[in-house]
Amino acid sequence: MDGLRLFPEAEGSVDYGTRLWEQLRPIAPGDPLVLDLFAGCGGLALGFESAGFRTHGFEMDAHYAATYRLNLEGECTEEFLTPDSELPESATVIIGGPPCQPFSVRGAQKGGGDSRDGFPTFLSAVSRIRPKLALIENVRGMLYRNRPYLDDVVSELEEMGYEVDFKLLNAKDFGVPQNRERVIIVAHLGGWKWPSPDTGKLVSAGEALGEMAFEAPEESKFLTPSMDQYVAEYERKSGCARPRDLHLDRPARTLTCRNLAGSTSDMQRIRLPDGRRRRLLLREAARLQSFPDWFEFTGGEQSAFYQVGNSVAPLFALKLATSAREYLDLLPQSSELSSVPTAEELPG
Ligand SMILES: C[S@@+](CC[C@H](N)C(=O)[O-])C[C@H]1O[C@@H](n2cnc3c(N)ncnc32)[C@H](O)[C@@H]1O
Repeated sequence: MDGLRLFPEAEGSVDYGTRLWEQLRPIAPGDPLVLDLFAGCGGLALGFESAGFRTHGFEMDAHYAATYRLNLEGECTEEFLTPDSELPESATVIIGGPPCQPFSVRGAQKGGGDSRDGFPTFLSAVSRIRPKLALIENVRGMLYRNRPYLDDVVSELEEMGYEVDFKLLNAKDFGVPQNRERVIIVAHLGGWKWPSPDTGKLVSAGEALGEMAFEAPEESKFLTPSMDQYVAEYERKSGCARPRDLHLDRPARTLTCRNLAGSTSDMQRIRLPDGRRRRLLLREAARLQSFPDWFEFTGGEQSAFYQVGNSVAPLFALKLATSAREYLDLLPQSSELSSVPTAEELPG
């Protein structure tokens, strides 16, 4: 096939799918314990388990929790979390991507905020459990539109006695074939070091998908002429210089629940060599999000697309988890938060 020659594999090199298969697999039984709050289908947890940690997820959605249990070594408790939820008494690390509804963190902790806001729950868990490391993943808007809220979160963690660092990172700089910017907030006891971005060339969507990008399996959903028109109109109005089809020579644009699962004007799609366009398949979306092919999603197609779109790219998570491991290895055994106020003692 012509297109394949666009992405020749160097002699003896290993293709992307195989590399994911080799790098991302839980190392059982793993140690120490990582609590994963708002765990989703376990993208973040897969990175941590692949770095040798044991995980325990908490997730309210039944399908997401089932996917976690199916693929990861750790258990996943299906539960709607609140700041008062009972959690394991100790954990070395707490991780999570809490949903953010930016009101006052403190207001919400006193019951005055929006129950969809996960930050009060995350902060309450950190203040009760006092892990050696807490790592939060969130969308880039936290640095801009929701900046006052981020500042609030940082102050809360500092008042608990942590040093706090945050950074906008792009998964494409860590081997993921997708442009995906996320803010990572880390609360630590000193000595945290960010993972270094890869120095080699970026992984392209074509490299990640290989032959899949040129095929039209039975389950393919082709764009109808009216969808083509709808998309063309959107691109004309938004002044797109190039159609927003998947470009195989570069990382994909950000995958979201909406553009994977919905009939939106910016839906993720592939143009086949014969000119037809089809929606991305679940396995392709998972590849572009760096899930290895052995990772299975439970629930219907809509839920599975949402699980992928909502997740942290596991390969990116592995890089963060490796930094977490290095930080813990260098941390003096005696380091712990012993003299900081508890949540109840914090000023209101
Ligand atoms: C951004 S996703 C997390 C993705 C996950 N870190 C991963 O890498 O796959 C946020 C998750 O939080 C869950 N969630 C939202 N509010 C929750 C709550 N109060 N209790 C438990 N889970 C909740 C959602 O169902 C969703 O799966």
